[in-house]
Amino acid sequence: MGITFMQERLQKIIAHSGVASRRRAEELIIDGSVTVNGQVVRELGTKADPEKDAIKVMGKLIHLPQRNTYIVLNKPVGYITSMSDPEGRPVVTELLKGVKARVYPVGRLDYDTEGLLIMTDDGGLANSMMHPSHEVSKTYLVKVKGVLEDKEIEKLQKGIKLDDGMTAPAGVKRLKKADANSWIELTIHEGRYHQVKRMMERVGHSVIKLVRVRYGSIELGNVPPGTFRYLTNEEVKILKGR
Ligand code: URA
Repeated sequence: MGITFMQERLQKIIAHSGVASRRRAEELIIDGSVTVNGQVVRELGTKADPEKDAIKVMGKLIHLPQRNTYIVLNKPVGYITSMSDPEGRPVVTELLKGVKARVYPVGRLDYDTEGLLIMTDDGGLANSMMHPSHEVSKTYLVKVKGVLEDKEIEKLQKGIKLDDGMTAPAGVKRLKKADANSWIELTIHEGRYHQVKRMMERVGHSVIKLVRVRYGSIELGNVPPGTFRYLTNEEVKILKGR
């Protein structure tokens, strides 16, 4: 499945292809300079499917700019977030059967971390999401060894000192408490190397399981591990801040 075009107004398609403004496209249609599958079209309300129909303006076939591909993969444990691995370990792109676009991961997840990984061929958006100045939030479900004390939770919330400096304030919610281990939901706005594991180690608890469930406005949703879904047009719009 890909992002599919729908029937759109001819003047909009022509404008989108870059050969004329929407205004000029309307004039061209009225003038009889536009054909759809060989037929002259002079009606301004006419719709066409730019993927299926041959649209010509003054005898020249128009082409739409390539649309980008945006994917949410539920990365399983045991895959690395690279395009290839010199050690021959499984890589996340192997899970994208049927995806023709050359998409790559937005940020990274450790080999033993699971969950939401956005993959796209839209380099501009990927760079902007990863840029530290945008402080895109990432939410993780974290299972740690032992019981987290309130004091430790407070420390995580306020910010703690790691080798590479203080962490920014984080959102922490206790989810489940057991004798031997606990689950928390942790939201951070940075993306340092092994950040969650290092934060938890710093307060004395090693991470047993780490699952990312949210990246900015994008939620993992009901995507089984090892499978993926395409972002909706609405999700892409929100990501682009439009
Ligand atoms: N923090 C980690 O320690 N590992 C991840 O994979 C993501 C965040």
